[in-house]
Amino acid sequence: MRDIEKAKKIIQNNWRNGFTVPSSKLYPFQWMWDSGFVALGTSTYDINMAMTEIDKMFSGQWANGMIPHILFHSEKEKTYFPNFDFWNSQVNSGAPLHPKSSGITQPGVFGFILRDILKNNWGNEEVKDFVKRIYPKVVNYHRFLYNYRDPHQEGIIFIYHPWESGRDNSPLWDDSMSKIDISPGSIPKYNRRDTSLANVDERPTQDKYDRYVYLLELGKKYNYDGKQIAEESPFLVQDTMMNAILIKSNESLIEIANDLNLDAAEVKEWQNLSKSNYDKKFWNEDLGTYVGYDLRHKKQMNYREIGGLTPLFAQIPDAKKAAKLNAYLQDLSNRDFYLCPSFDVDSPLFDSKRYWRGPIWPQMNWMIYNGLIKYGYENTADIVKSDLNTLIHKLGFYEYFESQKKVVDTLSKGYGGDNFSWTASSYIHLNQ
Ligand code: GLC
Repeated sequence: MRDIEKAKKIIQNNWRNGFTVPSSKLYPFQWMWDSGFVALGTSTYDINMAMTEIDKMFSGQWANGMIPHILFHSEKEKTYFPNFDFWNSQVNSGAPLHPKSSGITQPGVFGFILRDILKNNWGNEEVKDFVKRIYPKVVNYHRFLYNYRDPHQEGIIFIYHPWESGRDNSPLWDDSMSKIDISPGSIPKYNRRDTSLANVDERPTQDKYDRYVYLLELGKKYNYDGKQIAEESPFLVQDTMMNAILIKSNESLIEIANDLNLDAAEVKEWQNLSKSNYDKKFWNEDLGTYVGYDLRHKKQMNYREIGGLTPLFAQIPDAKKAAKLNAYLQDLSNRDFYLCPSFDVDSPLFDSKRYWRGPIWPQMNWMIYNGLIKYGYENTADIVKSDLNTLIHKLGFYEYFESQKKVVDTLSKGYGGDNFSWTASSYIHLNQ
């Protein structure tokens, strides 16, 4: 079977009633940004499937505009922690009763995904109507971020849980997380499920998990949107990728509004502020990359990692800065790393196997590929694409992959979950 056909089959097998699970055992519900990337892939061959997936995601949007990072469409599935009962999102009166959901969000991919779908289906009136219907919901989500997550009105939003960043256990969060004191009784008792479904050494460690639970409880205490979260949370971060994706989606909303005669005045205001402050606040000349800002401890987070490359996708850097980011990737490739490792390969915190501490992630390659193309770095973009293709052909449609070439030579499988939805969809979209 050709790999594109295999990829479609994986998505078909992960399709439930109107949405796709990231991976049937490890992640048996609908995840927010996974779902967006899946719709991107399916839209290239089955537009109805893509529209259904997106509709299903927005069926879980809260009254305050938030899109939760997980929708628990099935309340019978008991193999996941933290499940809907643990989240108890009903503490927020604007959370729908069904589907049940988590209480935090994830990167806001839907603006740019909607744009891609519209562009590729321009003659299709049904798609235009769909985009017109979803457009205000995406705007409402961005409004949530600017209203609830930007206390100093900088146009830069914060996250208060590492899971919101999409890069759960990146070394970026270690510092803040280690300052959280887990004394007896500070968190409820719980049972992890992930470590019985995947290799323990490919999953976040136990001390991290306790802190994930601590932050979840903090959110719950304030109904997941209270102002006290920003005042109290020991973890309060303005993340490079979360904000770059928001800016990319703002831009896409403005383009959609132009094409379909919709109102984008509010979005334009957000975008002006966000774009200029992003560059000012996040660029680190010494490291030659963008770095996030720790709002709780008031300092830049000086690490080279994959979030710092995502501004390419949002076309934030000028030509000089883009050239530095491109040179960084070229250098890694020359040093026998597959592109793009999720964390600084020269840092003692780099771990090429453990989740977001070094491995390659398919949807990240998709974004960085598209960013490089916009800047005219076709050669590096080709490497980013062909590296992902090579890894998939050799190791399968896994969740994520080893980043060191010499180690890949000894492997026959990828890491994490197998038959992974966004791996399949990123592959389809990149190779269509
Ligand atoms: C992990 C990843 C996150 C993803 C989720 C489902 O939590 O870190 O980015 O959305 O799995 O695939």
